Amino acid sequence: MLISFEGIDGCGKSTQIEKVKSYLTEKGYEVHVFREPGGTPLSEQIREILLNSRDEIHPLAESLLFSAARAQLVATRIRPLLAEGAIVILDRFYDSTTAYQGYGRQAVPVPDIEQLNALATQNLEPDITFYLKLDPHQASERRRKNREEDRMERAGKAFFKRVSEGFDQLASREERMVALDSSKSPDTTFRSIVGHLEKKLPRL
Ligand code: TYD
Repeated sequence: MLISFEGIDGCGKSTQIEKVKSYLTEKGYEVHVFREPGGTPLSEQIREILLNSRDEIHPLAESLLFSAARAQLVATRIRPLLAEGAIVILDRFYDSTTAYQGYGRQAVPVPDIEQLNALATQNLEPDITFYLKLDPHQASERRRKNREEDRMERAGKAFFKRVSEGFDQLASREERMVALDSSKSPDTTFRSIVGHLEKKLPRL
């Protein structure tokens, strides 16, 4: 089973992913968590370029780099684990490319990004995607409290507003996407996630 988490930076994904991982592990499932971009040595190297490069990265090159990192992760880690029956949890997946590079950067048309996503994943789709929805302003406050901003996070307010609207659009057209109000307490959000998961979990 493949579960992905999406949302703008600072939306609270990491906290929920940790909780879901413990919950599923305690139930007896084999659970693997990967972050995107990352999750394999090559993908982590690409992550380093994407988040810390001092050079300008053209939006098309940026989209291809995120996709390259993803292609490696899907082919070498995710597919084999799914074939063994494990549960894979992803801290971001291709919806982030649609929202950030497609809606946010606006330099590559969204339908082209969607084709790129299908190519990079060889049409692998999550069984369920939790979109943790948070107002871009609130998310930016949370980020500032936590740590220094990376290259993506420095893109500015208007950018994050477009990204956020991109996720909203996706959530309205993708049935696998569950949008949750992430301004609620972490426990409230977690209880909704569990409610949705219970209906979909494979038999042990
Ligand atoms: P990360 O530190 O993992 O952010 P977060 O903890 O908020 O998930 O950095 C990933 C950054 O890369 C984040 O700003 C979102 C961005 N991103 C894209 O722009 N496109 C993508 O396809 C992916 C996977 C991430």
